[in-house]
Amino acid sequence: MSKLAYESPTIIKIQSTMSKAGLPTMQQKIRTEIDGANIRDLTDKYGSPLFVFSERKMRSLYQEAYEAFSSRYPNVQFGWSYKTNYLKAICSIFHQEGAIAEVVSEFEYEKARASGIEGKDIIFNGPYKPYHSLLTAAKEGAKIHIDTFDEISDLEKVSDELGMKIPVAIRLNMSTGMEPQWSRFGFNIEGGQAMDAVRRIEAGGKLFITGLHSHIGTFMLDANAYKLQTVKMVTLMKEIEASTNFVVEYLDMGGGFASKAHLKGIYQPPEVVVPSIDEYAEAITSALYENLEAGNYPKLYLETGRHLIDEAGYLITSLVGTKRLPDGRMNYTMDAGVNLLYTAFWFKYNLELGEKRDGMMEPSLVNGPLCMNIDVIDDSVMLPRLKRGDQMTISPVGAYSVTQWMQFIRYRPAVCLIDMQGESHLIREAEELRDIEEREVLPEYLKV
Ligand SMILES: Cc1ncc(COP(=O)(O)O)c(C=O)c1O
Repeated sequence: MSKLAYESPTIIKIQSTMSKAGLPTMQQKIRTEIDGANIRDLTDKYGSPLFVFSERKMRSLYQEAYEAFSSRYPNVQFGWSYKTNYLKAICSIFHQEGAIAEVVSEFEYEKARASGIEGKDIIFNGPYKPYHSLLTAAKEGAKIHIDTFDEISDLEKVSDELGMKIPVAIRLNMSTGMEPQWSRFGFNIEGGQAMDAVRRIEAGGKLFITGLHSHIGTFMLDANAYKLQTVKMVTLMKEIEASTNFVVEYLDMGGGFASKAHLKGIYQPPEVVVPSIDEYAEAITSALYENLEAGNYPKLYLETGRHLIDEAGYLITSLVGTKRLPDGRMNYTMDAGVNLLYTAFWFKYNLELGEKRDGMMEPSLVNGPLCMNIDVIDDSVMLPRLKRGDQMTISPVGAYSVTQWMQFIRYRPAVCLIDMQGESHLIREAEELRDIEEREVLPEYLKV
């Protein structure tokens, strides 16, 4: 019989962080499968850590959002926000569902084109669009959303080069009662900059406005902000149509709808504070009906990212080291950390164990594998005593994780998709040394 390792006893004061919402949960949260796929089998097959995406959840979130808007308004089009997650398999699912592409750089534009999306089905946003990318986008008929006066000048040069007038939209910013206001993108409405841009475009005679766009922020917990945004955009649309020959064919409301994630610093659970997709849809469409003239209904675009994928993404991680800290808390080092969860700084994740463990729940610290003090997944969570090799599922992590992850200290892991039948598919291989060194060049004289 093998001897158990000796650990000297410690007396600790249990720090129960009681809030207005009550005592922390003393129940172990367990997850053994995702859409019928066994988690241990998945890591045996693809390794740990591992990102897992649920196709079923993605499709149901998309269909629910599309239904919420299209049942209220006749002319609705979603554009999948590539930056939220641009893995090919993920984009394909949203394109199959009917979304076009929304991109914010020439890289994302090229990615969408390489996946077979036509220029006319690409919304091209972003504060920096290099000249050559504007030229390609104009040639290919993309929806170009202008961010600055410099971009107006660039596009006029493109117009000369192509010998054609170019349809464009302008991005707007405005106060919607939310702080901090996202005022660095597009033209400000209240200060008159937006109308200045319209007049500038009109005076140039080389571009014509067909749309208005704005994206007021991300993880917006107040649906009413969208009502204000809609009213301000419709008012501007009327002013443009009354004072120029431009016809505004579409209004693009951007993204920003929250997912059921737990933002740090908010007491109540997401189920209580996050508006439903119907509330967002009602805020926008009721403001459209109240402010548009009957019969003149521009097309409504939405660039929803986070809301459509966050809850479909999980990160499986394994426990690689345990120790008790001088303050009495248990410290668990996992094989995944902030290198893969950039959003850990803002969100308190749902942590579920791979199996039930005996013992008292105690305050614990869950850290990542980086040799950096800031690599913390959760600095205060009640957990039973865990042991090396135990698994944990972190969720929701579908939005912005596999685009903002860092190749820092460690390789980035594999990503798999669980299809509608519960079968798993590898959608991105785990990295290895050659992936990282492929573009490095060692000058001849430095070779050892
Ligand atoms: C222009 C634009 N559209 C859409 C999105 C997607 O936002 P979200 O993921 O909050 O829906 C963003 C994200 O920042 C954005 O900048």
